[in-house]
Amino acid sequence: MSEELFKKIVSHAKTYGFVYPSSEVYDGLSAVYDYGPYGVELKNNIKSYWWKSMVQLHHDIVGLDAAIFMHPKTWKASGHVDAFNDPLIDNKDSKKRYRADVLVEDHIAKIEAKIDKEVAKAEKRFGESFDKEQFITTNTRVVEYYAEIKRINERMTNALSSGQLEDLKALIEELEIADPVSGSKNWTDVRQFNLMFSTQLGNIAGDEGKLYLRPETAQGIFVNFLNVQKTTRQKIPFGIAQIGKAFRNEIVARQFIFRMKEFEQMEMQYFVQPGSEMEWYRYWKNMRMKWHHALGVDENMLRFHDHENLAHYANAAVDIQFAFPFGFKELEGIHSRTDFDLKSHSDLSGKKMQFFDPELNESYIPFVVETSIGVDRMFLAMMSFAYQEEMVPDADGKESERVVLKLPAALAPVKAAVLPLVKNNEELTLKAKAVFDQLKFAVQAQYDEKDAIGRRYRRQDAIGTPFCVTVDFESLQDNAVTVRDRDTLQQVRLPIAELNDYITKKTDINELLKKLV
Ligand code: GAP
Repeated sequence: MSEELFKKIVSHAKTYGFVYPSSEVYDGLSAVYDYGPYGVELKNNIKSYWWKSMVQLHHDIVGLDAAIFMHPKTWKASGHVDAFNDPLIDNKDSKKRYRADVLVEDHIAKIEAKIDKEVAKAEKRFGESFDKEQFITTNTRVVEYYAEIKRINERMTNALSSGQLEDLKALIEELEIADPVSGSKNWTDVRQFNLMFSTQLGNIAGDEGKLYLRPETAQGIFVNFLNVQKTTRQKIPFGIAQIGKAFRNEIVARQFIFRMKEFEQMEMQYFVQPGSEMEWYRYWKNMRMKWHHALGVDENMLRFHDHENLAHYANAAVDIQFAFPFGFKELEGIHSRTDFDLKSHSDLSGKKMQFFDPELNESYIPFVVETSIGVDRMFLAMMSFAYQEEMVPDADGKESERVVLKLPAALAPVKAAVLPLVKNNEELTLKAKAVFDQLKFAVQAQYDEKDAIGRRYRRQDAIGTPFCVTVDFESLQDNAVTVRDRDTLQQVRLPIAELNDYITKKTDINELLKKLV
């Protein structure tokens, strides 16, 4: 895991049509990206896997597609107008702006890297008999590093929760944190900056006409709670799932699609009886981790991380972190949001947001357990997990390096590529096109006849296509094709009549979904 790998993934994503910088002809727009032909397929497959796992597999979860614009009072009630801030700091010499808490977190990451180095050294020294747990709890240097991390975290948490931003600046100065670009330590004071983008209604001037671009999709679910509950006659507990765009005025540097100004969220709010929320919180924590594991992601690349600072609405919160090339970072959040949102919307709108529970014979405001994951972050996690460089045998018996995206087959943008062995042979072309025309009704397929067959394999490997279907001269006689497996490189000969079934079964999203029940 490294900066080097991250650069390669970013470059690969652009070269192979997954992700482009937005409006690149004008030199791009910071932290905004466009998805190319393969990117949009991968993204749609991720969304489909999430949507089906929620709405199709759970009889008590229904979908919603709320508008991005909402009544401005929504954001007052949710707390975003008053509390959705980032602590920002400017470097006076470079004129660059940073999140003060991220500067401190990056400093902590450097201490963690020192711990990892000590562990790796000791592991090498002690070999088989190495006991990591014992080492990190007894080695003086490592224990001191952990104590330092704890001290820094506590100081930052206190400064943020008490609003004493001058102490956060003092911490940055004491730790001698320098501007990562210029190396300067000449900092301004830390101040709060609201992350919501605003725009103006055409027919109303001033604050009355101020609209926000939603910073989370969840509020569309909360304000529709009664509509959905009544129209679908769901009983508590039940959930509402939604996928949609969200917008945040993030101050970021070089994080690619990890942190964007315009991004997509997949959120599910599960409404439960007050008092049962911790039971459901545990349930959804496990379910969501299972969803990630079902993709075949190495279990060491995922971990839970309890929140140290709880958001204003939560009584428990945990992140699922993924080992991105730049370290373990939040991929998804699971939050027990109490009755905060429904209660606030009830209070501000004057409309009761209650559920009459026929079993208890009483009305209450339900509590909410939320699962929230960014589509773009999941996309980056999949690219990071799938990207591999490896030596493979060539047709001439030698070896050469290939870059391959070992994406889960069900998420791959193209499931199968149909390749005539050589181009400019009318019979082969006709046959291969007929195979493609058959296969395109089963899966997302591609026809490619440019370049030598070996180069075409490499191109498909680079976009993660699980199967290459080669139509050769024998195919003209035996009506069979050779199917090459992206990961094992093994080839099987199959009758064309069986091809659709074979590829469909091997790339079916249901194979992932079955692992969740
Ligand atoms: N409704 C709760 C909520 O929005 P969050 O932790 O702020 O919680 C949830 O966001 C998820 O949305 C994150 O775990 C992350 O995957 C994604 N996300 C948040 N901000 C993002 C950004 N600026 N760019 C890309 N993804 C983002």
